[in-house]
Amino acid sequence: MCGCSFLDISVISICFIFCWSGVGKSAFTGKIHGIENVDPVLQYVANNSLREHPVLTKLRLRTLEDQWSTMMVASDQAQLMANLIRLINATKAIEIGMYTGYNALNMALAMPESGRVVACEIESTYIDIAKPFFKEAGVENKIDVRHQIAMKTLDELIAAGEAGTFDFVFIDADKFNYDRYYEKSLELIRKGGIIAIDNVLWNGKVVNPAPSDLTSQGLDALNKKLHKDQRIELSMLTVGDGLTIAIKR
Ligand SMILES: C[S@@+](CC[C@H](N)C(=O)[O-])C[C@H]1O[C@@H](n2cnc3c(N)ncnc32)[C@H](O)[C@@H]1O
Ligand SMILES: *[C@@H]1O[C@H](CO)[C@@H](O)[C@H](O)[C@H]1NC(C)=O
Ligand SMILES: *[C@@H]1O[C@H](CO)[C@@H](O)[C@H](O)[C@H]1NC(C)=O
Repeated sequence: MCGCSFLDISVISICFIFCWSGVGKSAFTGKIHGIENVDPVLQYVANNSLREHPVLTKLRLRTLEDQWSTMMVASDQAQLMANLIRLINATKAIEIGMYTGYNALNMALAMPESGRVVACEIESTYIDIAKPFFKEAGVENKIDVRHQIAMKTLDELIAAGEAGTFDFVFIDADKFNYDRYYEKSLELIRKGGIIAIDNVLWNGKVVNPAPSDLTSQGLDALNKKLHKDQRIELSMLTVGDGLTIAIKR
């Protein structure tokens, strides 16, 4: 999630630039931003690296009509995750928190025909928005949407004997359960598999979180736990709202 909302298509790429540059800055407001303030170097990066499948573009524009569109993953971050998926030849992925399906579709498109994305989502309204786009992109058979709480799906996958078989997990649902999602994900992925965790910087609020701010405290505690965790290789990236990449040893 990045703290931007849009009125106009032309400011979309500007938004994630602000999400980038806004990371860690307490003055970041999350309001609509004007083009005049954009760092030209970051603008250059966006202009010269973003590639987006046409159906992803359509889904992104549809999602921007939703009042919670700030939850959608940023295009540059999605593209990074697609490339990680290609890099490790991932064919089995899980998304914990699908929303309208931007990243589930993104991951499915980055996988071969045999690929499978288990997408966890509790809100049927979002699933209804997502599915026609999966079909339009011709990957509806690759995306297995589980309409129930994510923890139940993860437990079901483990009970079905799928522990140690997944290549990639993206954690992007309720922050309260992040630590539990991480532990389940570690169980579900293979050695060399990747767990990507979104919003680990929480708009900069993980730096000295306020005593009343339990979400920021929880994310900060998880970040510090992963720093010491010998079960993984670790990178914390400042892309989007902060993205942790954990590779299972
Ligand atoms: C930040 S959004 C996900 C954005 C998405 N990854 C994307 O690519 O645009 C979080 C989603 O998690 C869902 N969610 C929250 N708690 C959940 C739970 N316990 N189980 C399953 N889904 C949950 C919410 O309904 C919401 O759609
Ligand atoms: C990036 O693209 C926008 C829209 O086409 C353009 O206005 C802007 O000048 C470009 N900036 C750079 C640094 O390439
Ligand atoms: C991925 O698959 C390609 C083509 O099959 C192969 O050449 C490459 O070594 C594989 N990479 C990994 C990391 O498995």
